Amino acid sequence: MNDQLREVNKTNIHEQAADATHRRLAFFITIHTTMSQTTTIKPKHQLPVDDNGYYGRFGGAYIPEILHKNVETLKEAFYSAIDDKRFNDEFNKLLRDYVGRPSPLYKAEALSRIYNTNIYLKREDLNHTGAHKINNAIGSVLLAKRMGKTRIIAETGAGQHGVATATVCALEGLECIVYMGATDIARQQPNVQRMKMLGAKVVPVTSGNKTLKDATNEAIRDWCCHPADTFYVIGSTVGPHPYPEMVARFQSVISEEMMWQLKQQTGRSYPDYVVACVGGGSNAAGAFYHFIDNDKVRLIAAEAAGKGIDTNESAATIKLGREGIIHGARTLVMQTPDGQIIEPYSISAGLDYPGIGPLHAYLATSHRSEVIAVTDTEALEGAMQLTRAEGIIPALESAHALGVLGKKKFKPDDVVVINLSGRGDKDMNTYLQYINI
Ligand SMILES: Cc1ncc(COP(=O)(O)O)c(C=O)c1O
Repeated sequence: MNDQLREVNKTNIHEQAADATHRRLAFFITIHTTMSQTTTIKPKHQLPVDDNGYYGRFGGAYIPEILHKNVETLKEAFYSAIDDKRFNDEFNKLLRDYVGRPSPLYKAEALSRIYNTNIYLKREDLNHTGAHKINNAIGSVLLAKRMGKTRIIAETGAGQHGVATATVCALEGLECIVYMGATDIARQQPNVQRMKMLGAKVVPVTSGNKTLKDATNEAIRDWCCHPADTFYVIGSTVGPHPYPEMVARFQSVISEEMMWQLKQQTGRSYPDYVVACVGGGSNAAGAFYHFIDNDKVRLIAAEAAGKGIDTNESAATIKLGREGIIHGARTLVMQTPDGQIIEPYSISAGLDYPGIGPLHAYLATSHRSEVIAVTDTEALEGAMQLTRAEGIIPALESAHALGVLGKKKFKPDDVVVINLSGRGDKDMNTYLQYINI
């Protein structure tokens, strides 16, 4: 057995151990390939991904045989949909009339004065349902409907992807089941209640440390058991090909809007820096997308250092991870020397994940992006500063992107865009525990 395969198998052994009853189905490895297709869902730039879903050596589709047909059919459906004007029109209409896009690009004058630079916030927090997740949920659920699927499943960490998926399912009249770790259910109660009110079934997951990784395991098991009627709406740029590419394209509207908004406001269609937090990587993928091949734009990914990257209580996957397979893709994974996944920790449920989307593993290891690990405390300080300086309470995830401001020096004439991925309503309980008001 070669080293690569040995590492793949070790990681999978960990996943298989999680639930003996599903062992038969869980993650034995098959590598699937696909033919190349051209796409038109508005990306003016293509991601650096090959026909098999590899970004450099990261990505691919490592899935159980039972899902092979599903993944192949999904690829075909996705590539045909994004070439279809009707699909694009419906997607764009909902983004405009239902989500409220374009989301504003707001010059944060007070924050700019504090840091003596030019800070712009891309206001994904103002989207319907309160985060960027709705962009992907709309694209994915429209695709599910087009494929004749009647049952939608999703995993969620912070609950924003669960709420977004439940929302679009309510709109489209589809059954919705959301897997969520019990730890996250406790810390993101408002979103749990919203999902239930929207008619979704929220299934608590009690394996592992009861967070996003464990919810994703359960969703994949469900998908394995119901391959025919079920569409799995993955909430980030993770999972087997084509998910990372598909989610990035649905989110690419973020940087597409940034280009013309920057042109209007600064006279130039690109910034010096784009800063975004990374959990699995979808808001960062959307915010970076149209700038990836413009090397004048520096891309900064803020990952969650938790209590510090050398404390064993961290979710800084890019800094701490090694190559392995998680949830169907080869990427960086926080793992022990013998391939067992290290349970991550972050104050933020949406960043509390031991893997990272393969695009971000590629951008970081090729030094196209700079990765800055932001601790819980730095994120809380960033959140409080934005709240008091600009009157905007950010999501805890987005607060990690704001934490970069205190760790990186920008020049007075730099244009720095921070993707404000979501709003902080869901995090009020956590904020109140840590911040003295
Ligand atoms: C508001 C918000 N931002 C960011 C994230 C992290 O996810 P991603 O890295 O896919 O953008 C989440 C995840 O739940 C979130 O809710």
